[in-house]
Amino acid sequence: MAVVLKSAREIEQMRRAGSVVRQVLNCVRDQVRPGATTLDLERAAEQKLAELGAKAAFKGYHGYPCVLCTSVNHEVVHGIPSASRTLREGDIVSIDCGAIVDGFYGDSAITVPVGTRIDPTTRKLLEATESSLQAAIRAVRPGATLGDIGAAVQEVVEAEGFSVVRDFVGHGIGTRMHEDPQVPNYGERGRGMKLREGMVLAIEPMVNVGTAAVEVLDDGWTAVTRDGSMSAHFEHTVAVTADGAAILTM
Ligand code: MF3
Ligand code: CO
Repeated sequence: MAVVLKSAREIEQMRRAGSVVRQVLNCVRDQVRPGATTLDLERAAEQKLAELGAKAAFKGYHGYPCVLCTSVNHEVVHGIPSASRTLREGDIVSIDCGAIVDGFYGDSAITVPVGTRIDPTTRKLLEATESSLQAAIRAVRPGATLGDIGAAVQEVVEAEGFSVVRDFVGHGIGTRMHEDPQVPNYGERGRGMKLREGMVLAIEPMVNVGTAAVEVLDDGWTAVTRDGSMSAHFEHTVAVTADGAAILTM
């Protein structure tokens, strides 16, 4: 599969999908509190998507049942919202959302603390994961490489003693949720495919407090850390422009 470059006009269309995703995530984030279930978050997202007239990208994708992925604590990604998963003080929850507007996809994720009493290592995990995404985005410009993105993530994460997950990667995105290229959150500067103007990438570092090893539960979706340590996930959909990165999920 080849990389699909997008015109300036197509990038503007993708910005509309990205804006929907952002609005949904903002709305869902406001529902995060001790006592809420991850199904409550799903319901809030469904309602917001409907209000904005957008289609969910995840629901039905390879049979995935929901519009959000909600991954709590040691769950890394692809946690399925459930009425039996109640959020508690001190938990963290990763919320991943995708939307389709006029055939174009947006994809973004945040990890948020539940309540106010978050332990210092977990707090540091959230900060490191989010700043690794920011560092990756700063590395984006025509002529930079996928290795530059991965190295930027890795550097921030490993400086804190945390681990970058390798079993899942970011991806190109456009009129399909997953396009080429794959975007690893690890790598070496100067290696890998060169970025070109018009590429649109979903960059999504997943970071564990402990080792990088993950496994998928019997539900066929939920990825968890093997060592049970906390994990965080942040994601933006980003276009490569002449001046560097344009974040489309703003
Ligand atoms: N952000 C994730 C990804 O890009 C979400 C996919 S969840 C799925 O792969 F259910 F749709 F697979
Ligand atoms: Co993604």
